[in-house]
This record gives sequence, C-alpha cells and structure tokens, in this order.
Amino acid sequence: MSEPVQTPQTFSTRIFSGIQPSGGMTLGNYLGALKRFSELQDRGVETIYCVVDLHAITVWQDPSKLRHQTREIAAAFLASGIDPKRSILFNQSQVTVHAELAWIFNCVARIGWMYRMTQFKDKAGKNAENSSLGLLAYPSLMAADILAYKATHVPVGEDQKQHLELTRDIAIKFNHDYGVNFFPVTEPLIEGAATRVMSLRDGSKKMSKSDPSDQSRINLTDDADTIAAKIRKARTDPEPLPETAEGLATRPEAKNLVNIYAALSGQSLESVVAEFAGAQFGSFKPRLVDLAVEKLGPITAEMSRLMADPAEIDRILGNGAARAEAIARPHMDEVYDLVGMIRARR
Ligand code: AMP
Ligand code: TRP
Repeated sequence: MSEPVQTPQTFSTRIFSGIQPSGGMTLGNYLGALKRFSELQDRGVETIYCVVDLHAITVWQDPSKLRHQTREIAAAFLASGIDPKRSILFNQSQVTVHAELAWIFNCVARIGWMYRMTQFKDKAGKNAENSSLGLLAYPSLMAADILAYKATHVPVGEDQKQHLELTRDIAIKFNHDYGVNFFPVTEPLIEGAATRVMSLRDGSKKMSKSDPSDQSRINLTDDADTIAAKIRKARTDPEPLPETAEGLATRPEAKNLVNIYAALSGQSLESVVAEFAGAQFGSFKPRLVDLAVEKLGPITAEMSRLMADPAEIDRILGNGAARAEAIARPHMDEVYDLVGMIRARR
C-alpha cells in the first residue's frame, strides 16, 4: 500500500474490518483481506479486527462447527501477522454494542436500501421470502460493527464495496436525523492486485469458501501437494502469457493467476507480466506453485499450531473483547442519549 491513510477531519484514524466464520479461509480472504490487515497494523495505525459470528448465523450454522470456525478464523488472523497486543482481535458476539447499535440502525436505514444489496440477492436466491430476516438486515449490523468504534477506514475486498456505501448512507442519515456530526463517513480501502481473487475453475466467479467445488479455491488449510494439484489443474487458455498487462484484459483466468502471483510476491501486475512475457502456462504454473507454497506454508503451519490450544485462542478473543468494549460502550451510551432513551442510574 502506497497511499497515505487520509482521515476525515474531527475523527482520528481507526481501522476496522471483519471476517465471517462461515467456513474455512481461502486465498481470496488472505490476499484481499488478512495480508492487508497486518500491513495496516504494521504501519502503526489503530487496528480493530473482528470475527463476525453474528453475521455468520444469518444463514444456518451448526453450533459446534461455528465455534470451531470462529477459532480457526482467529488463528488465521494471528498466523498471518495480527499481533493481539498491537491490534484488537475479538469475536463480535462478545461485545453486545454491535447488536444494540444494529437495532438503532435498523430504525434509521430503509428496507429498500437492503433489498438493493447484491449480496442479499445472491444469498437469498429465488426464495427470498424464506431467507432469515437477519440476512436482509445484515448490512445494518455491518454498519454497527464499523461505527461502534467510529472507524474511519475499512479494508475489504471488492465484493464489500456496496455494503460500505450503505454504511456511509446510514452514518449520513443518522447524523442528519439527529442533527449531529457523530459518526464519521467511513472510507473503504480497496487496494492492491488482489481485491478480487477469482475461482480457479471459472474466471468470472470470485473465489469463495461457499463454492461447492473445492478445486475452485485454495484453502489456508491446504497442504503443499493439494495447492500444487489445484494450481496445475486451474483453468487457463492455450495462449502464452502476453507482453503487456493490457493483453490480459480479455483473458480472465490468465489474469487471475498473474494477479495472484503479483499479490503473493508483492510485485505489480506489470512487473510480473514483464518477467513472464511469452512464457507458456506449463512453465508459469510451477513457479506459482512454489511461490504459493512458500508464502502459505508457514501460515498453515502456524494455524495448526494455534488450533492445538483452543483455550489460548479463547483467551485472546476475550481480552480483545474487553478492549473493544471499552471503546464502543461510551459511544453507545451517547447514541442512546441522542436518540432519546432514558438511562437511569442503577
Ligand atoms: P468473507 O469471507 O465473506 O467474510 O470475507 C472476508 C474478507 O475477505 C472481505 O474483506 C472480503 O471482501 C474478502 N474476500 C473474500 N473473498 C475474496 C476474494 N475472492 N478476493 C478478494 N477478497 C476477498
Ligand atoms: N460483510 C463482510 C464480508 O462478508 C464481513 C463484515 C462484517 C465486515 N462486518 C464488517 C467487513 C465490518 C468489514 C467491516 O466479508
């Protein structure tokens, strides 16, 4: 990341982001989110990261699997460089302000705003009437996650852009309705070569933990042989790699693999294209395998080391929750006051 983080006046820079514990982590989550989360932490800004378990249950989750997945996502944060001393790391349901503020936002946001969300349309599918009410209200809870901390910047992948626009709309409407400048109008941080990592099987679909085909994605729990097999089988076209980045414009599968290489190696797309100009996929893919195994191997190993001690993960999440609560609770008290709720001493 090269651009300095610009902060809207009157609010100090604070980063917030979240990941759902609705399945294992993919290379898309790593490159689009986790890798950048630790880069931001290392730049010394205040960073708050959350495993959003309340969001996960907007679609059915088996309780014991949910607990396991929550710890696994926490382990992925830690293994990819999040330091629980420098960042706040916790799971959402332990800080009840998220649910409380989401209710207030449910009364600020309009139903029509929710129906327009493409993620809702995709997840609800044809039978929208039968999806949970929580799935429709999902963006309101996401706005609460961010605004409970008055976070100014939110690093996410491309797919979350629309939700962040809605967060801005909610902040603006709340400030307007109550005649205050209470919530910041949050800026999305969607940057880098891998804001949208695509499926290895279909260059028009994003790589996703919920894709029925395991071949479509690289999981952070995959071993070296599995990563190698998936990359070898990844869909490509018969042409060699082009001389310039523009030559990838109409070749989504090829572009995806080059983007992944660029993001993993920390190079620009242009410099990777220059390095491999004219090469066949038969020689590019083994280089990508080596790079992916080199970068992901240590993360996978660290995740399994951490997962052997779930009590330690729970302790880290509990500590993080206490620190998160200390920031969010005073904001929530002010919100209740602004909205006109009586807060009697007890
Ligand atoms: P989720 O797994 O949906 O909770 O997403 C967690 C974070 O990973 C969000 O910031 C997403 O935008 C990001 N993300 C998920 N899938 C991808 C992908 N295929 N490419 C880039 N970023 C992604
Ligand atoms: N909706 C995000 C996703 O699916 C997860 C999320 C929930 C989030 N709350 C957030 C991301 C707050 C950023 C900020 O990826």
